[in-house]
Amino acid sequence: MINTQPINLAQAQATIEPPAPPVELTEVQKEGKSLFNTNCASCHKLYKKAVGPALAGVADKYEREWLYKWIKNSAALIASGNAQAVAVYNEYGQANMNAFPQLSNEDIDKILEYTSVPKS
Ligand code: HEC
Repeated sequence: MINTQPINLAQAQATIEPPAPPVELTEVQKEGKSLFNTNCASCHKLYKKAVGPALAGVADKYEREWLYKWIKNSAALIASGNAQAVAVYNEYGQANMNAFPQLSNEDIDKILEYTSVPKS
């Protein structure tokens, strides 16, 4: 038998693709967001290139130790001849990123927790 019931589109779509619930940030992610807004947001957005590249997912792109060094002082890392740092610097037009020697590894972990929040 062919089903002649009219299809409820909204319902059909809901079955295929349930709307993502708004992402609730954890305490750590909230602290990371606040550090990001204070220190990084002048040059970085999460999903769009600004002065610097979009930072969503950047924690998966590089080793954590490299990220600590880069964020604390990217110029020093570039000057040391670190191949990955030189490549990033050249890829993004040799703009200069501020140094953040005042950020602890823990602060940076929090920022990276925030940049790893899935897009809602
Ligand atoms: C003054 C502008 C500026 C600020 C402030 C800034 N950045 Fe950057 N950032 C850049 C630029 C420009 C690049 C591209 C590399 C380059 O040109 O040195 C970059 C690159 C990066 C990269 C490498 C991204 C990739 O995909 O390769 C990371 C990670 C990063 N920044 C993290 C941060 C974090 C975290 C903060 C805040 C604590 C921050 N940046 C603050 C300008 C900035």
